[in-house]
Amino acid sequence: MFRLKNQKSDDCKGDNEVLLSVKGLRKRFGSLNVIDDIDFDLKLGELLCIVGPSGCGKTTILRAIAGLEKPSGGRICLEGKTIEGPGPDRGMVFQDPALFPWRNSLKNVEFGLEIKGMGREEKERIARSSMDLVGLEDFSHSYPYQLSGGMQQRVGLARALANDPEMLLMDEPFGALDAQTRNSMQDELLRIWGETKKTVMFVTHSVDEAIYLGDRILVLSARPASIREEIKVQIERPRDRTGEQFNDLRKEVLGLL
Ligand SMILES: Nc1ncnc2c1ncn2[C@@H]1O[C@H](COP(=O)(O)OP(=O)(O)OP(=O)(O)O)[C@@H](O)[C@H]1O
Ligand SMILES: [Mg+2]
Repeated sequence: MFRLKNQKSDDCKGDNEVLLSVKGLRKRFGSLNVIDDIDFDLKLGELLCIVGPSGCGKTTILRAIAGLEKPSGGRICLEGKTIEGPGPDRGMVFQDPALFPWRNSLKNVEFGLEIKGMGREEKERIARSSMDLVGLEDFSHSYPYQLSGGMQQRVGLARALANDPEMLLMDEPFGALDAQTRNSMQDELLRIWGETKKTVMFVTHSVDEAIYLGDRILVLSARPASIREEIKVQIERPRDRTGEQFNDLRKEVLGLL
């Protein structure tokens, strides 16, 4: 139960356009202060990027939103309700897609649906449409070891999308990919985001990735994480990574880190 003492049940109520609202979030692990009073909102359909120094608490913030980590203070509201644990309304995508090696791609994507007890035909139909969405329709029967890193990451994304979550929580999903694959995965994500209208929260170490993808960027301080700056990215998509606006913003964000 993440509801704090004295919290009224209607504390989460707010703006209809706001999907997620993080208010006064704090997190300690024993004596280690990791998150120090963070506030932000995420609008429906928005793509928010988070950058910050290594170890500052980015993953902890995502895990708290995923309901895997209990806040030490403050609250996290999703669609006007306090988050009290994990749920199918939030899909996680990690740096390591952690696919089951003994299942082919389609069976990996079906996994969450299987847990829900969905029937075979419906499960397969949804998994196939997720595989289509990530451009892997021809690789349904391939096993993880037969796929490149980028393709495995797509399967991980398809698995998250199959549950039709309200939002995707992505933790450095392209961090292990080579530069070229990473760029094309960013384009893929933007395409899928455009098609599905999902709300996305994307954690990255890469300032360039954040500027290329985000509607907004939260720049975090070193641990304990607080919000150093919130930047609205007003560069038209598709963004030119070598353009003047891009370069200016890169300089600004790097200066903050
Ligand atoms: N379950 C835990 N128990 C104790 N300490 C933890 C736990 N999870 C995270 N931490 C600590 O909290 C701090 C923030 O960790 P977190 O993984 O959120 O950082 P991060 O910003 O995601 O780092 P990176 O950029 O390297 O991925 C670290 O000092 C880490 O050691
Ligand atoms: Mg992390």
